[in-house]
Amino acid sequence: MEINEKIKEKIVLALDVEDIEDAKKLVDSLYPYVGTFKVGLQLYTKYGNEVVDYISGKNSNFFLDVKLHDIPNTVEKASENVVLRGANFFNVHATGGLKMMQAAVQGAKKASEKLNKKPPVILAVTMLTSISQDVMNDEFEINTDVSDFAIRLAKLAKKAGMTGVVASSLEAKKIKETCGVDFKVLCPGIRPAWSTKDDQKRIATPKFAIEQGADYLVIGRAVTQAPNPIEAMEKIYEEIGEIKCLQH
Ligand code: C5P
Repeated sequence: MEINEKIKEKIVLALDVEDIEDAKKLVDSLYPYVGTFKVGLQLYTKYGNEVVDYISGKNSNFFLDVKLHDIPNTVEKASENVVLRGANFFNVHATGGLKMMQAAVQGAKKASEKLNKKPPVILAVTMLTSISQDVMNDEFEINTDVSDFAIRLAKLAKKAGMTGVVASSLEAKKIKETCGVDFKVLCPGIRPAWSTKDDQKRIATPKFAIEQGADYLVIGRAVTQAPNPIEAMEKIYEEIGEIKCLQH
């Protein structure tokens, strides 16, 4: 299959596996299709830099999904280290506040200047999907609508100079309307019509997510657990390729 670079750039593959050999196999077979591999805490806390160096060795981008959340000084230093390590994407919790997010941007900027490369994509996690309205009301005693709160945090992230946010495709449109079209939205919970839902609740197909404004799609089990991951990925390319502005 001929790779459409506009589609490739949007594909973020979640390497949520327990064993590094499984991660390496996925990288080996899928790197021609994947813009960025996402390494989360599960893999990073077990194998550290071995896994990200393997991805870099394929000349692929990686997203260190570390969700930093600490005092601004610590986040600035950690962000600098994440970027010096080679991450092309990383993220922080927006609930760390404006100063903490600004510190992340500052740390990343320092590192990219040292490396003489373009600054990474820095994303804010607004509200974790595990934080329901009940958790907001009963545990945090905050009487705000959870999705309004997420939008408020997205605006704060924009003010801090973040590249964008992680959000459901169902909220992408509203975020773009509020924060502007250049503010990037990365959407998990992507499920092609032919795949299983797993434990995801608020799902969307790749095509729908992009039509709602998603800039990046996090794709995990729909491809990694498919009987034939390459075939699954090619089907996703075909589906996204139906969108006019993404055609060659
Ligand atoms: O396998 P699946 O496509 O469901 O993987 C989704 C990925 O996106 C996982 O790495 C998960 O941690 C991440 N994610 C999510 N929902 C969020 C934020 C991140 O599923 N709200």
